[in-house]
Amino acid sequence: MTQTSTDSTVAPTLAKDDALVLFMPSGRRGRFPLGTPVLDAARSLGVYIESVCGGRGICGRCQVVVAEGNFAKHGITSSAHNLAAFTDTEERYKRVRSLPSDRRLSCSAKIQGDLVIDIPTDVAVNAQVVRKRAETRDIPRDLTTRLYYIEVEEPDMHQPLGDADRLVRALKRDHHLEGLTLDFPLVPRIQKILRAGEWKVTCAIHDEGIGHPVINAVWPGYTERLFGIACDIGSTTIAMHLTDMMSGRTVASAGTSNPQIRFGEDLMSRVSYVMMNPGGEVALTKTVREAVNTLVSRVCGEAGVKADEVMEAVFVGNPIMHHLFLGIDPTELGGAPFALAISGALTLPARQVGLDINHGGRVYTLPCIAGHVGADAAGATLAEGPHRSDEITLLVDIGTNAEIVLGSKARLVAASSPTGPAFEGAQITAGQRAAPGAIERVRIDHETLEPKIRIIGIDAWSGEPEFLEKQHITGVTGICGSGIIEVIAEMYLAGIISEDGVIRGELAAKSDRIIADGRTFSYVLWRGEQTHVITQNDVRAIQLAKAALYAGIKLLMDKLEITHVDRIRLAGAFGSYIDPKFSMVLGLIPDCLLANVAAIGNAAGTGARMALLNRGHRKEIEELVGRIEKIETALEPKFQEHFVYAMAFPNKVDAFPNLLKEVKLPERTANAGSAAGEGEGRRGRRGGRGREG
Ligand code: FES
Repeated sequence: MTQTSTDSTVAPTLAKDDALVLFMPSGRRGRFPLGTPVLDAARSLGVYIESVCGGRGICGRCQVVVAEGNFAKHGITSSAHNLAAFTDTEERYKRVRSLPSDRRLSCSAKIQGDLVIDIPTDVAVNAQVVRKRAETRDIPRDLTTRLYYIEVEEPDMHQPLGDADRLVRALKRDHHLEGLTLDFPLVPRIQKILRAGEWKVTCAIHDEGIGHPVINAVWPGYTERLFGIACDIGSTTIAMHLTDMMSGRTVASAGTSNPQIRFGEDLMSRVSYVMMNPGGEVALTKTVREAVNTLVSRVCGEAGVKADEVMEAVFVGNPIMHHLFLGIDPTELGGAPFALAISGALTLPARQVGLDINHGGRVYTLPCIAGHVGADAAGATLAEGPHRSDEITLLVDIGTNAEIVLGSKARLVAASSPTGPAFEGAQITAGQRAAPGAIERVRIDHETLEPKIRIIGIDAWSGEPEFLEKQHITGVTGICGSGIIEVIAEMYLAGIISEDGVIRGELAAKSDRIIADGRTFSYVLWRGEQTHVITQNDVRAIQLAKAALYAGIKLLMDKLEITHVDRIRLAGAFGSYIDPKFSMVLGLIPDCLLANVAAIGNAAGTGARMALLNRGHRKEIEELVGRIEKIETALEPKFQEHFVYAMAFPNKVDAFPNLLKEVKLPERTANAGSAAGEGEGRRGRRGGRGREG
């Protein structure tokens, strides 16, 4: 090579027989003597082309495509003929493993003239791996752990260099890797491994891109099997995906309930357990790690992967789950100022957290945004990318505490808001967790006030033949979170409750669904083997929860000095099931084009997968978290004011013009909001810090 540049305006000047080669999509280019392998040219320009076998024509991962044509802007006329004919190595690879007609192996193909080289992102080896559970997002791979095959010289009496040292030397020679060190636990095993592989081995090298690559696994012979896990540790459930790192595909997924529940249903009760039982965090840590390891063995078993082949594990979780998994006492997160032991991202050997993957595998935890806005919110932010857009995005993960991130490319703010457990069915008379038999959908006839319901497990509405036929299987057991949102919203739309949240007793004369309950009234949603009613207290609990969420969002909007948001993303299990329209009718979320409100499922888990497959995404979220401004809602003087206005349906002062285009809201009554002021303030009520996952 004689000259390199990334600046397309620099005219090549040297060695007129050299060929000009431009690599896409990076745009890097340089001049190279004829006969240079394309892979060498790429390397010398710092263009990454995957090469597990070090140019032996085994792995096929170094495939490239020649872009044909006249690239006048770059002064290049590129043609496949400007590469030397297929080598024997390529012919053999093509015969044994197959190679698309437009592809060449860059380790073998030699430059014979000017070229524009495309590096495909989808090198389709191992593509037969089954794709699991509709992972829709394509994540470009830029792995932190990579495989390198080498053939090491056998020991020689005249050159008393250690086996491990010769291994490092071979990696440097064949793969141009500098600054390598060997993970110490490998040292006592390296001689056996080298001999078992007859001096041919595959190494896993962990390289965060900051100049300290570490050889952390060595297997005898050649292998392309490299796997990673992405795991979201929620306080209620733990979800895990196993990914084939060489293809980027998810090959198995599994979930389990978090067994820490036996120490306390919600996060704060688990922190209380630790406070009241010195050393209790050890039991909580052991419990969550056992559950994680059970999932590791389950996903590996399902995909036929050995735990030894799993080299990377990325974790997200709310701050308390994050701390307990890492073995950190979460007591400080139990009260102001909610101090995290560590907020930054962490990379550590898997063995340090007792994770049953390869002994030398690495664990990465995403950074926490604040003491009550965790690594799960960071993961969701990474996945949704509000910082990559000019539009104002509101990202909400609703749990016992709602985690809220708001903003755009220009500025991002975050807070949590103490919604309490009402949205999850707690504090609601007929509330229950989402499970078969739970009411999840509700419609109320505005004239007769008669309801229709749907329960989890049956696709039909009550009254339809399928429902009548199947309802005995589970029974109608209660109301889950999405059902609660719908029934309260429908009661409001049908005029059963006023905008200030009072169940109208005068309607008892019109419908036997309205019944007296002491000094207040209730609505009978279901009469069957069990009767399920919505009481005045239930309505109040939802008002308090939604007002806390909305007030938190408004505070963040105040910070950004904005009055509307462009898009709303509802993360987490609860967000996936609630209907955006009903959430807006209740005033859980601010007005927005309904088409721009969407549930995004387990966005935290998607963020974890992104960090698993691409070390650039790790850097991106680490830098971003440093830029996100954290707002403590309890300290903001306007919280109470926003809260009181937000007690009304949908809100006492804020307009909902987009919602009104789609839904006819009841006329406002003159005394609207009178009951709103009765609502207890939420300050100091920050019971369950952190997200209930
Ligand atoms: Fe392995 Fe080219 S580097 S085939």
